[in-house]
Amino acid sequence: MEQYVIKGGNPLVGEVTIGGAKNAALGIITAAIMADEPVLLENMPDVSDISALLGAVSNIGASVTKRDRHTVLINGSTISDINVEYESIKKIRASYYLLGALLGKFKRAVVPLPGGCNIGSRPIDQHIKGFEALGADVKIQYGSVIAVAENLHGAHIYLDMASVGATINIMMAATLASGNTIIENAAREPHVVDVANFLNSMGANIKGAGTEVIRIKGVEKLHRSEYSIVPDMIEAGTYMMAAAATKGDILIKNVIPKHLEAITAKLQEIGCQVEEFDDSVRVSAKGRVGRTNIKTQPYPGYPTDMQPQMAAVLTTAVGPSIITESIFENRFKYADELARMGARIKVEGTTAIIEGVEGLTGARVSATDLRAGAALVIAALSAEGFSVIDEIGYIQRGYEDFEVKLASLGGQIKKIRTERELQRFIFRAG
Ligand code: UD1
Repeated sequence: MEQYVIKGGNPLVGEVTIGGAKNAALGIITAAIMADEPVLLENMPDVSDISALLGAVSNIGASVTKRDRHTVLINGSTISDINVEYESIKKIRASYYLLGALLGKFKRAVVPLPGGCNIGSRPIDQHIKGFEALGADVKIQYGSVIAVAENLHGAHIYLDMASVGATINIMMAATLASGNTIIENAAREPHVVDVANFLNSMGANIKGAGTEVIRIKGVEKLHRSEYSIVPDMIEAGTYMMAAAATKGDILIKNVIPKHLEAITAKLQEIGCQVEEFDDSVRVSAKGRVGRTNIKTQPYPGYPTDMQPQMAAVLTTAVGPSIITESIFENRFKYADELARMGARIKVEGTTAIIEGVEGLTGARVSATDLRAGAALVIAALSAEGFSVIDEIGYIQRGYEDFEVKLASLGGQIKKIRTERELQRFIFRAG
């Protein structure tokens, strides 16, 4: 079992380069298999969710060739099977994108119900509603979603909530349906826009991505493309929080500052310095941060995927903060772990109340999901003394070289596998 061992207390200082967005890449990999020609994808993050999805598309017969660590060539012309195996995708939530992609391309798809981070019940009724509106017959049998369409056609679809997954999934299927589709109350996240841009680069006709109304004119087929994935706003935001929590000074490179505006605004509100450049942001903090309230919302609101990391920062704010989670029902499981580090955090339903304390102290804690794991690392880097973080597999799903990048900023962090390695780290850092 791998763990992180961390000795906190060092301000993180230096430069870090952000990779491609995991959540965009998941949609783009599945969209890529809809073409019968080779597609070259660049700026692909090397994280375990992406490897799992590449494995899954390869299992159904797509050709997947890694050119280098961040570049992959995918050719969907060789797909021989529309049945996706449970084993290959059980851990990734975004496996549901295979439904939209395969339904669009082959008018049939059999995909096991998704897994992913356990942050509350995560229904896919809006995806199914969309596929049905496009003319598909959808049923759930033996743990899989089976979607079949005699005639996949355009439709006018109104989403009950601005779901990222449903928007992308419907967009993919509608791209290869006949006629026009309108998605209303569509999600506006940058990764929705990135998947739409990528589909358009293969010959799709999608307009309005990034607004609440997306219009798709169905096309017969998609063609070859070369595409570079958008920078990961959540990875960037995580390093911004690491700077704030450790009273550091980090230049975060290869970002789109506009995507970070909600995060930037909150950091400025609590007294951090944030400077924006063309494709980088610099975050620095001195002393304890101020208090604030946060409510998670769909983009362009404050992102739910940045909620735990902000909670870690606010544990040592001057004064009480309130965090309201309005996207997922069970996203505070990390609160007990932060409490082990001395945080005063109380959860009531979808609200967490944090009484800022002067400082945290290291502890043995366990990542409860991907972003919660990142939050615990940030807390541990700011805490006095040693922490050991278990279940770091969650973190590796979405952060490439997390410990390497943090160590390059002066963080005392190491990935370890044995008690001996732990003792050696403690001896050296001691
Ligand atoms: C995506 C992101 C995830 C992020 C989330 C919200 C990926 C792979 N994951 O997840 O990191 O936290 O957006 O920004 O991109 N809902 C339904 N029915 C549905 C679909 C969604 O009730 O059919 C609900 C969900 O339970 C949730 C809300 O809608 O409460 C938003 O979910 P959604 O935007 O779909 O999130 P994901 O696509 O799963």
